[in-house]
Amino acid sequence: MNEVAAALGEGAQEAAIFGRVSAAMTELVGQDDWLPPEFEKPHPEFYQQYLLHRDSQDRFSVVSFVWGPVQKFPIHDHNVWGVIGMLRGSEYAQSYRCAEDGMRPEGLVERLLPGHVEKVSPTIGDIHQVSNAYDDRVSISIHVHGTDIGKRKRHAFDPATGVTKDFVSGYANAPHEAT
Ligand code: FE2
Repeated sequence: MNEVAAALGEGAQEAAIFGRVSAAMTELVGQDDWLPPEFEKPHPEFYQQYLLHRDSQDRFSVVSFVWGPVQKFPIHDHNVWGVIGMLRGSEYAQSYRCAEDGMRPEGLVERLLPGHVEKVSPTIGDIHQVSNAYDDRVSISIHVHGTDIGKRKRHAFDPATGVTKDFVSGYANAPHEAT
């Protein structure tokens, strides 16, 4: 957390933030022996997002994202920078862009494996769909975002039409706080 806070020094540009936070994330997910059991519990129906740390000034938040078998997140955006590190299992991630007749995939489906680190932001690409790559086991990734992501107003996109629906993700382990 100290490393992320340091990366957010006054006037820090996104590229510099990504450099430092990605390095810290690479170290964090390089070992899978630190996540407390209460932050790794899957839900039988829904992915779970557990708050691990929230900066006192809401400048960033750290979550564990726990996927049950075959669970997926609809196409969505973040509206803020994020660094994702694969801790356990594996995820598929597909980037999208908005087109006149719906959502178009951008590039190939990526498969994240333990130790892999990915980035998202409105400047480098912020819309994607993510799913557990496994149909028989739990996968867990760790996400750092440049705000309290559980409170952020975001969008889910209908794949066929591109129509958006607002959502606020909240946290599985913290009550929703109105903004
Ligand atoms: Fe995402």
